[in-house]
Amino acid sequence: MKEIDWSKLSFGYMPTDYNVRIYNREGKWGELEVSSSETINLHMAATCLHYGQEAFEGLKAFRGKDGKIRIFRLEENAARLQSTCKGILMAELPTERFKEAVLKVVKLNERFIPPYETGASLYIRPLLIGTGAQVGVKPADEYLFVIFVTPVGPYFKGGFSTNPYVITRKYDRAAPHGTGTFKVGGNYAASLRASKEAHDAGYSAEFYLDAKEHKYIDECGAANFFGIKNNTYITPLSSSILPSITNKSLMQLAEDMGLDVERRPIPEEELSTFEEAGACGTAAVISPIQRIDDPENNHSYVISKDGKPGPISTALYNKLRAIQYGDEPDVHNWVTIVE
Ligand code: PLP
Ligand code: COI
Repeated sequence: MKEIDWSKLSFGYMPTDYNVRIYNREGKWGELEVSSSETINLHMAATCLHYGQEAFEGLKAFRGKDGKIRIFRLEENAARLQSTCKGILMAELPTERFKEAVLKVVKLNERFIPPYETGASLYIRPLLIGTGAQVGVKPADEYLFVIFVTPVGPYFKGGFSTNPYVITRKYDRAAPHGTGTFKVGGNYAASLRASKEAHDAGYSAEFYLDAKEHKYIDECGAANFFGIKNNTYITPLSSSILPSITNKSLMQLAEDMGLDVERRPIPEEELSTFEEAGACGTAAVISPIQRIDDPENNHSYVISKDGKPGPISTALYNKLRAIQYGDEPDVHNWVTIVE
């Protein structure tokens, strides 16, 4: 294998040795299969190709100073995948089968897990698709669950540093009673134009408001939002955002650190009151927010006056990473060690 320069990894695809697959036929999940092929053989009328029966997940494995491999909150990802499958009428994979597949694919690709010192990790990408043929708009009768892995570095260039975001009203990511709480491919297709326009204009990502009134904060690109003020961690309560496992973890860590935690609708104007703010997710970890521009109203909410991450975001980031890499005790039982 060509030597990997771990310190130069970005958030991109790199082939690894194996992926794992489980087929659902006649309503039953089969045995786990190991594959070294990067392609999938699909029926041209598969429902994932026409009617968007596609779900995915994202989680990470970390190599600790002690050499052990730790996977973060995999049961939460299993549960969210089940929720997504309920949301678009796909066969649900039991948590035990999800866990079996994650452990197997990580173990098989052990040599791709970046060394501790690099701060990089192994991104684990499960997907579940309708493979059965249909022409009428209905759920498939066959499904395929696949997991591939790929080593990744920071999602945003510069890693833990502040970035600018831009509010979009031109495009919505998800409707109030739509599929925003599910991790389905369609939500990401719906975000591509907003994301491209934000990037082309020099922003880190697009910033969504609620689709009904464009009054409240929803999400930032493929990450949840949190703001900090008066020793309080505040994050949106919304029916159109993805329930982020990172955000859920940060709420717990904030509480552990003695902060109050509020989950409630956040009006856009409240952005001017935050002492710190960040985008959070598996890929983004915490990406501190420098400012959020609202070009349509010719306004800019500057969050970080000195351009640096704030002290509470920094403490939360360090705490989360320390648990993930095994530098600090896993008091909440979030980590699965790969034996
Ligand atoms: N919001 C969206 C739209 C996402 O795609 C992600 C990534 O998974 C998140 C939030 C963060 O979720 P998590 O922390 O579970 O990765
Ligand atoms: C994640 O944080 O895992 C994401 O899903 C973000 C993006 C790559 C879709």
